[in-house]
Amino acid sequence: MAGVSDKPFRLILAEFGCPLVYTEMVSAKGLVYGSRATLKMIDLAGEGNVAVQLFGREPEILARAAKTAVERGAVLIDLNLGCPMPKVVKNGEGAALMQEPSLVGELVAAVAAAVAVPVTVKMRSGWDGASRNAVQVALVAARARAKAVTVHGRTAVQRYAGRAEWDTIRQVAVALSSQGVSVIGNGDVASPEDASRMLAETGCQGVMVGRAAMSNPWIFPRISAYLRDGTWLDPPSPSERLAVARRHLDQAVHWEGEERAVRQMRKVIGWYVKGLPGAAALRQEVSQIREAEAMRQALHRYATRLH
Ligand SMILES: Cc1cc2nc3c(=O)[nH]c(=O)nc-3n(C[C@H](O)[C@H](O)[C@H](O)COP(=O)(O)O)c2cc1C
Repeated sequence: MAGVSDKPFRLILAEFGCPLVYTEMVSAKGLVYGSRATLKMIDLAGEGNVAVQLFGREPEILARAAKTAVERGAVLIDLNLGCPMPKVVKNGEGAALMQEPSLVGELVAAVAAAVAVPVTVKMRSGWDGASRNAVQVALVAARARAKAVTVHGRTAVQRYAGRAEWDTIRQVAVALSSQGVSVIGNGDVASPEDASRMLAETGCQGVMVGRAAMSNPWIFPRISAYLRDGTWLDPPSPSERLAVARRHLDQAVHWEGEERAVRQMRKVIGWYVKGLPGAAALRQEVSQIREAEAMRQALHRYATRLH
């Protein structure tokens, strides 16, 4: 997730047993032309199972970018067919590709021929309500040797509005059931029960969690335990949340340097304390902070106030 699943957060997620984490969407062109900032996004040193998600629309560039990502340790390459941001779709990339199924086939085939790891795609249900063509695009991707297809049950035009509809995910699962290609359901999974319902109602093989994982790495062990044998693990206490926020800050300083870390953590701390008493005041306080040590102290004072 752009602006969310950076290395410090991926390390926290892995610590909590998230079986597969994805990088933020990475520009294939940026990788091929050696942009330093883009290359940093695929620094996977010291991490476990990380999928690199690429966006782009040129088969050769995507293939070269995928090779670079695999050399850096990517265990899976995912192609972005879902980003609705104007700066991406105006270049015919991201969700704009839902309107070009045959190009999707070329992209998947080029990347699958270039790397030995699984290649997957992540798509929307369609471009807009009048063109919900996820089944068609999924079949094209499957024929081009995609190993799995993730479907977010909203159109690109919807962005994040309204509830995700899961029926398109079910239709894709039906269509791909005879192809040996897995379907990963995505959209509005925010609890262990949601994950269980997603599997039961759509027939998909895997579940992807987006927004509900933001500063909530507990969601993965909670979902796993519930799906395994119905075990209900309680959500974390406020002090557990703050302890992990503090660890996240330390990871961010270590990997990103103090300035970037503090900037990112101003928003990330807000996610960790969402719903807790006095969260708004803490958010306001950390938004002014420029040093990691001051941020640690603010977290410490807040934890003391909560007790
Ligand atoms: C801040 C933010 C950044 C995102 N970045 C990406 C991205 O880089 N690649 C991608 O495939 N989806 C991205 N998404 C979409 C999510 O992966 C997911 O499909 C969507 O939020 C629906 O799932 P959810 O209800 O579990 O959040 C992003 C979503 C948000 C809110």
